[in-house]
Amino acid sequence: MGCTMLWVPLSSLLVALLSFLFPAAHGDLSYTLTEETKTQYVIGNIAKDLGIDSTKLKLRKARVETEDSSKRYVDINFNTGDLIVADTIDRETLCGSRLNCILNFELVLENPLELHRISLNIQDMNDNAPKFLNERINLEIHESTDKGQRFRLDEAHDYDIGQNGINSYSIGTNNHFTLSVQDKHARKYAELVLEKELDREKQKDIDLILTAVDGGIPQRSGTAVIHITVLDANDNVPVFSQPVYKVVLAENAPIGTEVVTVSAEDADEGANGEVTYEFSRIAHNAAQLFTIDKLTGQIKVAGEIDYEQGKYYEFGVQAKDGSGLASTASVFIDITDVNDNAPKIILKSLNNPLPENVIVGTEVAIINVQDKDSGDNRQIHCSIQGNTPFKLNPSIKNYFSLVTTGMLDRELEEEYNITITATDGGSPPLSSSTTIHLTISDVNDNPPVFEQQSYTAYVMENNKPGTSISSVTARDPDWRQNGTVLYSLEPSEINGLPVSSFLSVNSDTGVIQAVRSFDYEKFRNFKVQVVARDNGSPPLSSNVTVGVFISDENDNSPQILYPAPEGKSLMTEMVPKAAVSGSLVSKVIAVDADSGQNAWLSYQIVKSTDPGLFTIGLHSGEIRAQRDITESDSMKQNLVISVKDNGQPPLSATCSVYLLISDNLAEIPELKDMTYEENNSKLTSYLIIALVSISTFFLTFIILILALRFCHRRKPRLLFDGAVAIPSAYLPPNYAEVEGAGTLRSSYNYDTYLTTGSHTSDFKFITSYNDSTLSPAGTLKKVQNETLARNLITINNSGEGDECSMGFVG
Ligand SMILES: *[C@@H]1O[C@H](CO)[C@@H](O)[C@H](O)[C@H]1NC(C)=O
Ligand SMILES: *[C@@H]1O[C@H](CO)[C@@H](O)[C@H](O)[C@H]1NC(C)=O
Ligand SMILES: *[C@@H]1O[C@H](CO)[C@@H](O)[C@H](O)[C@H]1NC(C)=O
Repeated sequence: MGCTMLWVPLSSLLVALLSFLFPAAHGDLSYTLTEETKTQYVIGNIAKDLGIDSTKLKLRKARVETEDSSKRYVDINFNTGDLIVADTIDRETLCGSRLNCILNFELVLENPLELHRISLNIQDMNDNAPKFLNERINLEIHESTDKGQRFRLDEAHDYDIGQNGINSYSIGTNNHFTLSVQDKHARKYAELVLEKELDREKQKDIDLILTAVDGGIPQRSGTAVIHITVLDANDNVPVFSQPVYKVVLAENAPIGTEVVTVSAEDADEGANGEVTYEFSRIAHNAAQLFTIDKLTGQIKVAGEIDYEQGKYYEFGVQAKDGSGLASTASVFIDITDVNDNAPKIILKSLNNPLPENVIVGTEVAIINVQDKDSGDNRQIHCSIQGNTPFKLNPSIKNYFSLVTTGMLDRELEEEYNITITATDGGSPPLSSSTTIHLTISDVNDNPPVFEQQSYTAYVMENNKPGTSISSVTARDPDWRQNGTVLYSLEPSEINGLPVSSFLSVNSDTGVIQAVRSFDYEKFRNFKVQVVARDNGSPPLSSNVTVGVFISDENDNSPQILYPAPEGKSLMTEMVPKAAVSGSLVSKVIAVDADSGQNAWLSYQIVKSTDPGLFTIGLHSGEIRAQRDITESDSMKQNLVISVKDNGQPPLSATCSVYLLISDNLAEIPELKDMTYEENNSKLTSYLIIALVSISTFFLTFIILILALRFCHRRKPRLLFDGAVAIPSAYLPPNYAEVEGAGTLRSSYNYDTYLTTGSHTSDFKFITSYNDSTLSPAGTLKKVQNETLARNLITINNSGEGDECSMGFVG
């Protein structure tokens, strides 16, 4: 263990030793040699120095090699074992100004291979003389130069080093200068020191020999000639022709344009009188724009002259003579404006969109106009092109306000392109324009307008609920919701019922529909107001009247008022035996709730006991004897009468009329038998008939009197009262309610006849229902109270049947 530990340091030490001895150097050789030594000069004996037999050198192929295969300056003499100079060595060539100059070689021996380093220290020899680069040094020294002034002279150069380098300088003896040798950083140079003022007038040129010597042995030297020219003093400065140059230059002058030429003169001769020009002071921006010719003094444009960038420039120029004497002058350049800038229009504010309802003079926009030029070139005139309701009002400075000059209407013009042109006052003028796009916004200023002033709708009665009967349309030119039209019915009442229970209107389409089935007999027409309202806020509306006319349908059969229907009471008409042909016997009274053709009634005898004895007026319903009554005619006559309207299809009703041909009431058969029995006691019948006739006649007479009296007092009442011939109860129940206003209107005349039993007298009561403003309810009621009337005609209110009979009131 201890053994190995010891071995390791020992072996490494040995390796280090071997590596030191062997490849690096087998013993270095070092020699010193002076440069410039001739060839064959023996430097030393390497055989002896290496301890090798000189004869073996050749055998071992000894040779000297350079490390970098450069020039080999040494060789081996194999006979003597000497290292000899093979080529002359110039230290300055090899090493220049380096202090140590060592050449390294390798001595190679073969068999065994050995390598020896040979270093050859080359020593300097004073083989170079000092030398001046220029053999003639020209100096110009003013005659006025002060004593003690120093002028540095060119250094001489010596390639040798150390002692062999430059050692000192000297000059030949003279009256004016001494030499002062300076030593800085191991370099020596000389300065000429003026010891005595020069006088050009005495001596214009001085030549001196400057000698540089080195420190070698033998000493070497070099010389140069100092040629001193004594200069004349420059007594005159250049003088400018003007102290200040003022020029005017138009802007945009092209590059190269001459601005001005400055000139200065110098009284001195030669260089002292040669003047050059330059700017003495100039601002940076002006320096970009102008140049000055050094020789001629001509100032030219060198950049873009823009009046808007700079209105004038000022700089100094300097004239300098050859030796530097200078004087200055000032140049002022005024730039004149050229109309090269078009006016600029800047929109400062804009009210867009503009509501259409703004008042005249409303400010729409503010514009600002600018022109960079000056004077007239920036006088701007603004105008609006085209025909628009706008104008420009000049405001403060270069501001204009655009105002409206008229009312705007979006429905006529919803946008405007307002082109504003600005023109300056230059010559030629420049202009520019800008277009303002203005939109007009909507205001709800148009109510919906119906296409027609009024609408009329016709609807057949008994229509189905939901039938469309008409449609209304209204237009609103406003925008969007302001122009969206909604339809509705104006709330109102028809006969006490809300209009909405009659009609409805589609709010979007304006289509009007019937909500219920109409009955012409209840009312024939009515009016509603339809409102069209837009969706604006606040909304605008308009209304239109829609007249609804209900057309009649033949849906009512004729109703026979007289004679009263059979079974309820018995009525028999007395016919005098003496009745002659054409005399009125009785009259059938019927009404039809329909109107027009549907209510135009015609009467016919459909069945009679003795056909040919009686006729009936086709439209009057009057029953007349067709021929004279004879004794042979049956006393009881029975007629069946049909009453028919003119509708399509026609509706009809029938009734029976009982006639008793007798002059004597006693002849009247018993009531009960009247109808059924022909052969009753004639006496009784006649008695009754007589009674009835008298009373009938009497009562009729009284009615007539009363009626006439009423007529005198109050005509309408009388007229109506005359119509009492058909008391209210006889009218169809509907009649009383016709028309919401409670007025009974009819376009037909009802001629009503009241017939009495008397064959001699015809009482005709004509009632004109034309006079339409009757109040049936009120008046008829009054009539109902008339007991006379009631006595005359027995009323059966509920009698809806088409049969009627004639008889006496009990
Ligand atoms: C305004 O100008 C625009 C675009 O230039 C154009 O589309 C529009 O039709 C013009 N309007 C009028 C009213 O001339
Ligand atoms: C409708 O008109 C009103 C003023 O009446 C306005 O404020 C609104 O903007 C208009 N609506 C539209 C869609 O233009
Ligand atoms: C209907 O229009 C008229 C004028 O056209 C107006 O006087 C009336 O007030 C309007 N009626 C309703 C209910 O709007």
